[in-house]
Amino acid sequence: MPYPYVLLSAAVSLDGFLDDTTPERLLLSSPADFDRVDEVRASVDAILIGAGTIRADNPRLLVNSPERRAARVAAGLPPYPLKVTVSGSGELDARANFWHTGGAKALYTTDKGAERARALGIAADVVPLGPELGWRRLLEHLHDELGVRRLMVEGGGTVHTQLLQQGLADELQLVLAPLFVGDPDAPRLFGPGGYQGGRLRLMETRRIEDVVLHRYQPTAPGAGPLTVAADRHWLALACELAERCPPSATAFSVGAVIVAADGTELARGHSREAGDQVVHAEEAALAKLDPADPRLRTATVYSSLEPCARRSSRPAPCARLILDAGVRRVVTAWREPDTFVTEADGTGLLTAAGVDVLVLAEYEERAKAPNRHLT
Ligand SMILES: NC(=O)c1ccc[n+]([C@@H]2O[C@H](COP(=O)([O-])OP(=O)(O)OC[C@H]3O[C@@H](n4cnc5c(N)ncnc54)[C@H](OP(=O)(O)O)[C@@H]3O)[C@@H](O)[C@H]2O)c1
Ligand SMILES: [Zn+2]
Repeated sequence: MPYPYVLLSAAVSLDGFLDDTTPERLLLSSPADFDRVDEVRASVDAILIGAGTIRADNPRLLVNSPERRAARVAAGLPPYPLKVTVSGSGELDARANFWHTGGAKALYTTDKGAERARALGIAADVVPLGPELGWRRLLEHLHDELGVRRLMVEGGGTVHTQLLQQGLADELQLVLAPLFVGDPDAPRLFGPGGYQGGRLRLMETRRIEDVVLHRYQPTAPGAGPLTVAADRHWLALACELAERCPPSATAFSVGAVIVAADGTELARGHSREAGDQVVHAEEAALAKLDPADPRLRTATVYSSLEPCARRSSRPAPCARLILDAGVRRVVTAWREPDTFVTEADGTGLLTAAGVDVLVLAEYEERAKAPNRHLT
């Protein structure tokens, strides 16, 4: 179930509105920020907007810079990213700029919407997703069928709200513009509803003329099952920790994080930490917790490399330590190669005992990076 990396991009007024209620589009960004957005567009495989934004703004959604288009072509990409829109109704204007500018277009819709869109002569690859439109199926289709690895979402609020609330956003790029809209009927960026997780992680702030760009990473959800975006977030952290291991010619560099079901980080560890030449990442992280901690039973262990199934340096391999701790879920990036032990099937040991093991292969290269000299 791999999905593209989902980057939400929006500009808002100081009072949190996306637009005003006049028919003309409200310009919130500054010229330099529009150029930054152009650069982000040039860096992605696809750009998505909701049907509401096509109706309200009639945007073209292009990469405007000829140099950026040329650079895409030189890299073997089409000059323009794929343009994607979503509509439940299929009630779209066939003359809108969206369909007649740039490169390939895809419309994700319902079965009924597809009929309507075809009848209206919409010039796009029309993809019906069944009686209702589900974001996970849409992202899966974009990834598997259309090869989209990075998706930029440019609104509107309805689309942004759903992706954030469903835990499917990997990054939020929010521009704050120094003006007020002051009209309660104007569209807001984020609507009401249940947002998972607590505070977002602030990755960057940047002043661009008179606007400020904020880059956030949504963090783990506050309740309920860990979402795809949360899994990615924690596994990325485990891969980051792997980079911090003291180098070794005889053992892997691995990072691990233990996260409670409510998204709280319980402990982290990495190989050979704190001067212990043989300690493994999962072992180091587990050692920081009280074995009787009840949160372990519903926690997830994120490890850049699958937990080991056999080892000579300690009596119990990490897979055994995880089972003994009562953990029922493991997410990892990389299956252990036969470098040091043969049939290093930690996943087999864990799944045989009923543990759910998820491998997110998209992080494999990052997990391998500090181990290049070994494999
Ligand atoms: N400041 C900014 O950065 C920015 C960026 C973009 C847009 N905007 C503003 O945002 C406003 C438009 O926002 P919006 O929230 O009205 O529209 P939107 O998010 O662009 O589109 C909403 C539409 O998308 C379709 N849709 C979304 N989720 C769906 C689902 N789960 N199932 C089926 N269909 C789904 C529906 O289309 P159907 O109605 O066809 O079924 C829905 O009406 C405009 O005023 C625009 O100017 C501002
Ligand atoms: Zn181990």
